[in-house]
Formats: sequence, structure tokens, C-alpha cells
Amino acid sequence: MTTYTLRSASPAKTRSDAVVVGVVQSSKGPALADGGEDVAQAYGRKLRPLLSSLGVTGKAGEVVKLPTGGTLSSPLLVLVGLGKEPTANAVRKAAGVASRGVSNAASVALALPGDSPELVRAVVEGYLLGGYAFTTYKKNGSSDRPNDVVVLSSGARRKEVTTAFEDAQLVARAVAGTRDWVNTPPGDLTPPKFADAVTAATKERTKGKGAPKISIRVLDDAELTDLGCGGILGVGAGSSAPPRLVELTYAPKGATKHLALVGKGITFDSGGLTIKPAQGMGEMKSDMAGAAAVVQATYAIAALGLPIKVSTFAPMAENMVSGSALRPGDVLRMYGGTTVEIQNTDAEGRLILADALVRATEQKPDVILDVATLTGHMVVALGDRVAGVMGSEDIVADVLAAAASAGEEMWPMPIPEGMNDRIHSSKIADLSQHDWIRWGGGLFAAAFLREFTAGVPWAHLDIAGPSFNSGGPWGHVTAGGTGVAVSTLVEYARTFAES
Ligand code: BES
Ligand code: MN
Ligand code: ZN
Repeated sequence: MTTYTLRSASPAKTRSDAVVVGVVQSSKGPALADGGEDVAQAYGRKLRPLLSSLGVTGKAGEVVKLPTGGTLSSPLLVLVGLGKEPTANAVRKAAGVASRGVSNAASVALALPGDSPELVRAVVEGYLLGGYAFTTYKKNGSSDRPNDVVVLSSGARRKEVTTAFEDAQLVARAVAGTRDWVNTPPGDLTPPKFADAVTAATKERTKGKGAPKISIRVLDDAELTDLGCGGILGVGAGSSAPPRLVELTYAPKGATKHLALVGKGITFDSGGLTIKPAQGMGEMKSDMAGAAAVVQATYAIAALGLPIKVSTFAPMAENMVSGSALRPGDVLRMYGGTTVEIQNTDAEGRLILADALVRATEQKPDVILDVATLTGHMVVALGDRVAGVMGSEDIVADVLAAAASAGEEMWPMPIPEGMNDRIHSSKIADLSQHDWIRWGGGLFAAAFLREFTAGVPWAHLDIAGPSFNSGGPWGHVTAGGTGVAVSTLVEYARTFAES
């Protein structure tokens, strides 16, 4: 267990195994950033020539370690690049890089730019998330982490700064919880097991004095049949692990505003009979990243005690191939009665979301946000680090603003008028799930989902790209599940609570 403390103290005089300072890239060469004030002075005249012979530039991602030879109270000075501007996002990434750079030190002092609530938040989130490791399946269990981390901030005595310091830890915990679920192998996280994991986590998050109240309901396949949730049942039909729908409610006393969250929980997406190519299929264990994100965001919102009601819906199914699997040509009757003709069993996410969206509208929320690893089209359009946001204009704008302050890259995408004809092209059912037109598939999917929102203000976050990092770590984003959207949802809830 690592303990985190916030202190206003001199970085040069703080005793720890390593002290981390930022370096900014400038036309006059690398310069120590705010937070590292007295370090250069204490290190003395040798620092500048040393930086130059080491080739330190301050570019983002750079990490250089120097022995301090008794000039500072810490034996090791760790310099991390902040790029040209020490913005909160640059600090978040640099703190992540630093976290992996000093994983063997028993105690670490972080002297990064941190005089405002935004910056302290960035330091804490960046450090905690950059040091994330999923070690459950490794022989040598837990990874080395420092016992003590001190965040140095000149604002440490200000209330807003201490609050930001505490809150950032809650958000980081929710992001890490999302990563854990996404990284878990699909055989160990089938719909029933995922639902059990959410039940256990909810219990854990709501026990003890001062813990928030969150109620949970898990609907099993029999209940889904009684309700007529044809989308969830249809997609789950090919798997021997039956589907589930998990519903969470956080309703603090006096809450007047109501936010609904819906997340795609495909625990494994083989594509079904419209089977996917073999290469990379294993990454489709991450197709439940939306469900994991909305559940964990709900925990963070509750732990922060935000005065809004949150209703969360996580439909869970495994998209498999078998004699009982859904076929192209089948027609499903969704919860609420709308019929949908299936053309491609690999476009399964919209089917389970349709049932869950209708369930959400029944609660009469003010806003619905859905989060889903929905389409490869969005990855083609925006790359693998940016989420696409579609839906009601003002809600999309609010989500984008929340993403910007949370440090997550999201971009608006349209739902063109012409999509209406495409989703209504079935000759035998109310809606067509898919057509074989290659273009604009991510926008078609959004138009399809909109049919189930009953006019409630809504935004859809397609996180197919940024939910899973197939490459190596960068900034505070580690390999595998990234936990994307959690911070944005929490930030959205914060502004929604204040509006
Ligand atoms: N889960 C996939 C989308 C996906 C692709 C997520 C890449 C993460 C990375 C989704 O269920 C899917 O298969 N979508 C199809 C939709 C198509 C058939 C309209 C796709 O993107 O090809
Ligand atoms: Mn699919
Ligand atoms: Zn999928």
C-alpha cells in the first residue's frame, strides 16, 4: 500500500529516495519548471553543463536520473520532460512517465508544477495511473511500488488544492478499476462473472461509515426474457454463459438532477456468425470497456458525494458462435417493442444498448450518456487515441468540455440526415441493424441508438479507439485497458451538478 501526502515544502530539502522535477523545452534550452525552484540552486553550477552533456531537452516522454551527491536531501533527482508548455495535460503525462521511471524507490517526492487545483489533480492522476500494472496473472504477484509519495505544492494549505488532491485519488481508483476489468481474460469475465464482480465491487464501495449508498439490481436471463429484452438475449444466445443486465442507482437525499449512464458490456466479441478475422481477436475482451467505465464512474461520483441522482445500466453479453447463435436475417424484438432486422452479427453492441437505453428512458433522466466500443469506423476516422462524440448538440458540447478538463481527447462527429433512410431500410422490421454500405458506419450506429432515446437529451461516446492500448505505455496511459471516459463522465457529472 502506498500512502500519498500533500505538503508545501522545499523540494531540495524534502527527504526521499527520489525527487521528481519537470523540465520545460524552451528556445534557450531546457529549464526547470515551476515546483523545482530551489533544486537548481541547491544542485549548483554543475547542473546546467550536466544537462547539456546528457542531452536533456525537456521534450514530453523524456526521463533522466541524476545522483545528487549530497547537494539535495534526496539522493536521486529525476527530471521529466513537460514539452513546451507545462499545461495540466502535460503535467499529467509527465507524472505518469515519472511514475514508471522511479518504480523501485521506496519514497518519492513529486515537485512538478502544482500550485493550482488543476495541476495537483494532474500530478496525482498522472502518477497513480502511469504506475498502474495488471499483475493478477503473473507468478511474481504485485509490482514494486513506493511506500510513500509526497506531492509538493505551494498551494498545499488551500482548501481547493487539498480537495483536488483527495478527489483525484478517487477518480484514479475508478480508472484503475476499469482497467482491471478490461484486462481480465474473457473466460474469467463472462457476463455472469462480470455481474458478480460488479456486485462485489458495489458492496465494497458502499460498506463502512460515511460510504455512499448505491443500490444494485442484476437481471438474469430469465428476468430479461420476462421483460422482453430481445437485444441482450439475441446477442447472448450463442454463448453458454448467459447474458445479464446490471442496474445501479445512486440517489443522494435532495438530488434534483438525474443523469443516466449506459455502457456496452460485450465480455468477448468474436463477431458471432459474421465472425471476425483471427488476428487481434483477443483484444475483443475489451469490448466491455464502456460498461466498466460507467460502473466505475458511478462509484467515483458517489464517493465524491456529488448531489445528483445517477442511474447506470450495464448490459452484458458474450457474442459467440454456436448452433444457438443469432443469424443474419433474424428479427429481434427489443425492450419496448421495436423490431430490428439483423444483417451482421458483428454489429452487436447497438443491440444490447438498445434495450438498456429504453430501460434508461423509463427512469425519466434529464440526460443520458452512453459509452461504447462501438465501431471500427470511429477508429479509422479518429485514430486510436480519440473518442467520437455524437448526439444532442448541447450535450455533446458539454461532454467535449468535460473531456478537455479531464485530459481525455474526444471529438464531435455528426449524425447526418441521410442516416435516417439507412436505418429504416429493412423491408420486414422497424429498423435495420446494418446495411452493407461501407461508409459512415460509426454515424449509422449513432443514428440507430438515437431511435431508442425517446427524445431525452443524449450523447453517445464511441471509445473503440482509445479504450485499449495495444502498444507500449505513453504518459499516464499504460498498455491494455486504459479506463478512458471515466474521468470525463465524472467531470461531466461535476458540472451537471453545478448547473
Ligand atoms: N466491438 C466492435 C468494434 C471495435 C472495433 C472495437 C475495433 C474496438 C476496436 C464492434 O462490435 C464491431 O464489430 N463493429 C463492427 C460494426 C460493423 C459490422 C457495422 C465494425 O466496426 O466493423
Ligand atoms: Mn462486433
Ligand atoms: Zn463489439
